[in-house]
Amino acid sequence: MKNASEIFEYLESQGDQAMEILRAQAFTPHNRKKLRQWGITEAAEMIGRTTQHIRQQEKAGILPSAETGTKGRTYSLEQINSLRNHFETRPGRSSGDETCILAFANFKGGAAKTTSSVHASQYFAKAGYRTLFIDCDSQASATQIFGYNPDEHIATNETLLPYLLEDIESPSSVIRKTNWPGLDLIPANLALYGAEFSLPAKAATAIIERKQYPFYSILQEGLNKIKENYDIIILDCPPSMGVISINAIYAANAFIIPVPPSMLDFASTIQFFSMLKEVLSQLPEKKFGFVRLLITKHDGHESSNTLVDTIRTLFGSFVMQNVMYTSEAIRKASSDLLTLYEIEKYQGAKSTYLRAMHFTDEVNKEIERAVRKTWESDQDRFGKTLNLNTDELVAAGS
Ligand SMILES: Nc1ncnc2c1ncn2[C@@H]1O[C@H](COP(=O)(O)OP(=O)(O)OP(=O)(O)O)[C@@H](O)[C@H]1O
Ligand SMILES: [Mg+2]
Repeated sequence: MKNASEIFEYLESQGDQAMEILRAQAFTPHNRKKLRQWGITEAAEMIGRTTQHIRQQEKAGILPSAETGTKGRTYSLEQINSLRNHFETRPGRSSGDETCILAFANFKGGAAKTTSSVHASQYFAKAGYRTLFIDCDSQASATQIFGYNPDEHIATNETLLPYLLEDIESPSSVIRKTNWPGLDLIPANLALYGAEFSLPAKAATAIIERKQYPFYSILQEGLNKIKENYDIIILDCPPSMGVISINAIYAANAFIIPVPPSMLDFASTIQFFSMLKEVLSQLPEKKFGFVRLLITKHDGHESSNTLVDTIRTLFGSFVMQNVMYTSEAIRKASSDLLTLYEIEKYQGAKSTYLRAMHFTDEVNKEIERAVRKTWESDQDRFGKTLNLNTDELVAAGS
């Protein structure tokens, strides 16, 4: 019989080789990730002006002309954003509005937290919002989708870790640009997991030394230092209820819980609610602008429909109207470490791609509406902010 460390050393080295082969097939490094361009019709829609109006202004020399390539006139997101600035159609919060800090969390693994949060971040960036994505998961799945190999491109001091350990004063120095204009990233790698040991150890020392150490609000304080630069900050949480998740949930002012409509996934989600209730009841009171369950990976089967009906009956408006259906296009994009928003030409049935794109967009539009409802300046358009404290929240969800 071999001892455990030998077995895992062997598995690790084989695994590293396997990842190298797989990455060579699927991975486009961040510096080679090129964002698609948009044709005049789509660009005009994104800008909020007619194609004629844009063309007239280009002809009159008021606006620089779009690039004309093999596919006709195309616009980059950078150009689209500067046209939005020119026409004053770029969306965003007013200075008096709070930056939306939106956590995607569920204790259950594989619930589509990363898929949903990365798509949401790109949707917001595409719409012109100033967006920051924070990978709070040491598995670093989102970091890879953004084109970084966490073992190779990300040093230990380039994640949230040095800020959580108070080695740096603000998370601002670990923010980097992505291939999406207007979308910044704080990446993750495995070393981030170290926070799960270091923070409790610091908390224990603080108790012995009779000092205050609010371990749960470190991220919140860090985001207070940088949130002014963004309309929305999206947090992708790990599938656990450790100190990083607690920090993320405590820092958030809005919360999406992705849940696939299967008995076991749902049962885990209920356990998650129970943990949240326990944990949050021990911390200073917390308010959320909105909290929503997002049904993910819906396979359209009768048994899933029945479960969704039950969830809707019991949880009412806590459940998002739109649903993420299981899709071959999402599965395929994810195995190429891409999102639907990054695909310019889908290799497969166009209808599959368009269907996936439709329900992803609808989910994200609904999230956008919920975010905008929390902005005072949008109140006239969208009605009053839902302001629940955790007790009300849990009571309504139980
Ligand atoms: N709508 C969908 N259609 C098809 N596959 C999907 C869909 N949503 C997610 N997946 C796939 O399910 C798997 C898990 O998704 P994802 O990584 O987003 O979950 P997660 O909750 O972030 O997982 P973890 O708990 O490990 O962080 C991935 O392989 C992803 O491609
Ligand atoms: Mg994930």
